[in-house]
Amino acid sequence: MKILGIETSCDETALSIVECSGDITKPEFKVTDAIINSQAKLHAEYGGVFPTLAKREHQKNLPILLEELLRRNSTSFDAIAVTQGPGLEPALWTGIVFAKELGEKWNIPVIPTNHMEGHIVSVLLPSLDKEGWRSRGVMNFPAIALLISGGHTQLVKVPSWGSYEVIGDTKDDAVGEAFDKVARILGLPYPGGPEISKQAALSRARQSQSPFICPRPMLHSKDFHFSFSGLKTHVLYAVQKLTKNGQKLTEEQIQEIAHGFEDAVTEVLIKKTMAATEDTGALTLIIGGGVIANTHIRNAFETLCKEKDIILLLPTHEAATDNALMIAAAGYIKFLRKDFGGIDFKAEGNLAL
Ligand code: KG4
Ligand code: ZN
Repeated sequence: MKILGIETSCDETALSIVECSGDITKPEFKVTDAIINSQAKLHAEYGGVFPTLAKREHQKNLPILLEELLRRNSTSFDAIAVTQGPGLEPALWTGIVFAKELGEKWNIPVIPTNHMEGHIVSVLLPSLDKEGWRSRGVMNFPAIALLISGGHTQLVKVPSWGSYEVIGDTKDDAVGEAFDKVARILGLPYPGGPEISKQAALSRARQSQSPFICPRPMLHSKDFHFSFSGLKTHVLYAVQKLTKNGQKLTEEQIQEIAHGFEDAVTEVLIKKTMAATEDTGALTLIIGGGVIANTHIRNAFETLCKEKDIILLLPTHEAATDNALMIAAAGYIKFLRKDFGGIDFKAEGNLAL
């Protein structure tokens, strides 16, 4: 079946066309087309996402993007999948209203979809136009999913597609949020993740260990929870100390702080995730969310999973950060489980998995 995916939970307006087949044990996807408009530049001056501006931009861009998508693909759809939550409620509403209107006009079902489930199933999606259908025959359950985004840091037990149990969560800032806040402290633009990663790589090319050592929050706690706000505060105090007489941070200092911060985050993510895979006997590790675009974190997990013989599933680059492909895929999983009611659903900013 052919699904139109719609994502408006944050600052990306995204639409996709995904062909879906297979049953719940082996869902398969073919990416036909995707279109995305990022508002990141508009929000940059606020240092984060400004909800009213996001809403206005989504409202303006949704019809424009749909027109473009339909111009490129003259096709009909069997269903629409739209993000119901979690996310910014005013932003979510724009996508939901748009989806419901289209659903009525085209007389097809509208499937409310969980954004975090989208990040989990994002690993099943092939690249746009390149790989055809992606079959994941090699994947074994149970799996653990690590979700690392701007709004979430979660460890989720996945006994089968469509069934999820959150076993670890952040106590304060999400990991992507920590990247964004540390970037701001260092005077780097929003979104901070890619900027920190670039700066860290420059220091890493000179030295394997940064002279700027950060604490490893909750590394030894016996649970699967995370905390990143202390790490951000550590960077803030260090920067205040280095600049207290009006000095500016040098380029080297920025690079070394980014390097030290990235190392600390990576170690905590690795340690907690590996403990969760051992504890649950997971055979597969899924990692989703914008932060997995980070090369250092990606490499660290790839090396370790190889060593420990764990199957590692990562999204393609375009499916890692917020997109509508993953929403279409998550909508298909819900469709297979017949897990959606009528059209009378609301945006839910704090929707749980
Ligand atoms: O999944 P996502 O696109 O949106 C949310 O659902 O939040 O994740 C966005 C987050 C931002 O905090 C951004 O800074 C972070 O992902 N991010 C990265 C990188 N690219 C994006 N963090 C670290 N390294 C990167 N290369
Ligand atoms: Zn996301």
